[in-house]
Amino acid sequence: MTEPVRREETADQFSEHAAGFASAAAHFSAESLKLIGELASDAHYGLAIDVATGPGFTAFEVAPYCDRVIATDPAEGMLDQVRRIAKERGLNNVEARHAYADALPVDDAAADLVTCRTAPHHFPSIIDFLAEVARAVKPGGTFILADTSAPEDDDLDAWINDMELRRDRTHVRDLKHSEWRGLLAEAGFEQNFEATTRVYMETRDWCARTGVSDTDLEAIIETWRNAPDTAVKEFQISRVDGPEENYSFSWPVFVTRTIKT
Ligand SMILES: C[S@@+](CC[C@H](N)C(=O)[O-])C[C@H]1O[C@@H](n2cnc3c(N)ncnc32)[C@H](O)[C@@H]1O
Repeated sequence: MTEPVRREETADQFSEHAAGFASAAAHFSAESLKLIGELASDAHYGLAIDVATGPGFTAFEVAPYCDRVIATDPAEGMLDQVRRIAKERGLNNVEARHAYADALPVDDAAADLVTCRTAPHHFPSIIDFLAEVARAVKPGGTFILADTSAPEDDDLDAWINDMELRRDRTHVRDLKHSEWRGLLAEAGFEQNFEATTRVYMETRDWCARTGVSDTDLEAIIETWRNAPDTAVKEFQISRVDGPEENYSFSWPVFVTRTIKT
């Protein structure tokens, strides 16, 4: 049984691979990012907090609709990327701050908007994360969430979560949409929008971003080769032409906008 990774180790691993994340098209050109921009553009917000900001793409996407955005992450390497890209784009209302998802650097009910994209599957406790967002956001404030998700089918849920963990020891769990809906309601968030987007990737590039060893990569490729038909269909798995055996695929992404009651 593999030991769960401590959250500090997770932050160190992301710090180490921060530059690669900042240039990964799967992150900065994803459908979920564009959708979050559209969902935020309906209003103007005072203070926004982007949780687990990585290189800051979500913070930059919502920045035009906010007075001020605090882009938070526990990986110092990611915060350096946020500062660099914000400067390049001339965004003066985005500041980078060190924080874990369960200890946001603001007073109670200080935020008008909280965002979090493609990160909760790394958090040790979703309940603690949602409780912290509920503390930080004003009643009537907005919380926009997007995360890689698992199908409702238990076998496909196991397949995607096993694959994620083999590719990245810091993976905790992709939740089913039904699980998200329940946890959000329990934490006091009322959904007013929900959609499923997809994130498109290729196995070798995806594994390179987390530094998977050659041996583990070959074992992972073998699993893709032998993926059950249900997984091939659900995750749009397809062999990529080329000298090396490689697969393109897509993961579902749960996107929702909620209001704090
Ligand atoms: C895939 S990146 C996030 C991408 C980013 N949100 C975006 O929209 O492009 C995942 C991020 O989660 C952060 N992270 C991991 N564990 C965390 C935790 N417990 N609390 C807060 N952030 C965490 C990592 O440091 C990393 O930067």
